[in-house]
Amino acid sequence: MFHILVSDPLHEDGLAILRAAEDVTLSAPGKMARDEVLAAIPEAHALIVRSGTKADRELIEKGVNLRVIGRAGVGVDNVDLETATERGIIVMNAPEATTWAVAEHVFGLALALLRNVPQAHNSLAAGEWARKKYAGYQLRGRTLGIIGYGRIGQAIAHLGLAFGMEVIAYDPIRPPGRDPARPDVELVARLEDLLPRASIITLAATLTGESRSIINAQTIAQMQDGAWIVNAARGALIDEAALLDGLESGKLRGAALDVYAKEPPEGSPLIGRPDVIHTPHLAASTDEAQSLVAVYIAQQVLDALHGVDYKNVVNPAVLERH
Ligand code: 3PG
Repeated sequence: MFHILVSDPLHEDGLAILRAAEDVTLSAPGKMARDEVLAAIPEAHALIVRSGTKADRELIEKGVNLRVIGRAGVGVDNVDLETATERGIIVMNAPEATTWAVAEHVFGLALALLRNVPQAHNSLAAGEWARKKYAGYQLRGRTLGIIGYGRIGQAIAHLGLAFGMEVIAYDPIRPPGRDPARPDVELVARLEDLLPRASIITLAATLTGESRSIINAQTIAQMQDGAWIVNAARGALIDEAALLDGLESGKLRGAALDVYAKEPPEGSPLIGRPDVIHTPHLAASTDEAQSLVAVYIAQQVLDALHGVDYKNVVNPAVLERH
């Protein structure tokens, strides 16, 4: 028998697959507090998380029976891969499921930011009729700069083209030139080539030592005056103090944020500013994406526990030991 612990909310479609497995006992109470996860982890052969659970060294070391950590999503920056690998624990994610949900949210944020949708909504709800105050800008004809050109970056590019935008992208692992799959997208050689050309800059990069604070005082200085930033990737890609300075100085016209260096972003001076709109890490949270991601990760974790298949393993070195 295998015991699977699900410590973040997982869509019912994935839970149903786990419940149906004959050799599995399941504990999936929804969002678990840190001390609850620590108390429950010693029993678990597999742990399934989203971004809410920090699977750090302390947690993983307490998982004395742990064989698999499944990330029902893309980013594994909340999992200590080094410790997991040391202990022979497979870490897998489900990177295909949430791409379009995230890309659509980027445009939801971009449209809301340029058209002042949240501010106008609040104003009308408060009894005002302020048509002039909340006039905005449009996407068509603007240059969209995408930092990171993996699955999500490419989906954002696709939607940007549909909005009639000029789309440029930077990814250190992609050679410069036209994207062969989407020739209307220009890949630039260096970040410095993207920053001054884009009026809207969005992030679609994973958080690594190199990408951390890729948006900082220096890179903001290279942007167009009045640029907008949209971030639905990871908060720590942006130096938030530098973003605040950029907004306060007027260098940046506004920012739309779904992610924060610390989540929830308690006490952040970015929250509640009139030139910042924000959502609580919702980009992947559509019913469709969460159903898919839960089904994928449930099946992958079961396959790994049964030793029949190892899909989307992000620390493949451990497989040599399986
Ligand atoms: C991801 O990395 O998959 C996204 O940031 C979604 O995170 P979530 O599963 O916590 O919504």
